Amino acid sequence: MALTLDVNGQARNVNAAPDTPLLWVIRDELGLTGTKYGCGIAACGACTVLIDGQAMRSCQTPAGAVGAAKITTIEGLGGTHPLQQAWVKNDVPQCGYCQSGQIMGAAALLAQNPRPDDAAISAAMDGHICRCGAYQRIRAAIKEAAGMSAATVAEPALPVPAPKA
Ligand code: FES
Ligand code: FES
Repeated sequence: MALTLDVNGQARNVNAAPDTPLLWVIRDELGLTGTKYGCGIAACGACTVLIDGQAMRSCQTPAGAVGAAKITTIEGLGGTHPLQQAWVKNDVPQCGYCQSGQIMGAAALLAQNPRPDDAAISAAMDGHICRCGAYQRIRAAIKEAAGMSAATVAEPALPVPAPKA
């Protein structure tokens, strides 16, 4: 079935059954491979894109349900988004697989809450799994992109040595 999707500001015509996951359309039909497949069950966040500014799991979003809503993928941020700059500056990625989903989740957060506190960051990013454990750097980069001091990043407390007897 012919579908017309608004992807990164362009009308894109694709042939896909309406129940095809948007993720497959983005990757296989449109060649936008920055969006990743992780779990396929909306449990990891790797496939996150923005749909009308909301972070959505494209693996569980039927392409036919998107209608005229605006889809933004990692490619749509253009490489110069403040989050992408902060990601580079904080050397966030390790293997990188989860990172486009992380950035898209953070982009939705900052669009709705430009100066999120730790609780707001945790609430927004909770469903984004990073198997490399880059969570502290992700949090630091979000705060940097939001113009907040890195000193506000919550670091684990260092153990205090026990006094010698
Ligand atoms: S691949 Fe969609 S949430 Fe994991
Ligand atoms: S950087 Fe490897 S899974 Fe997140």
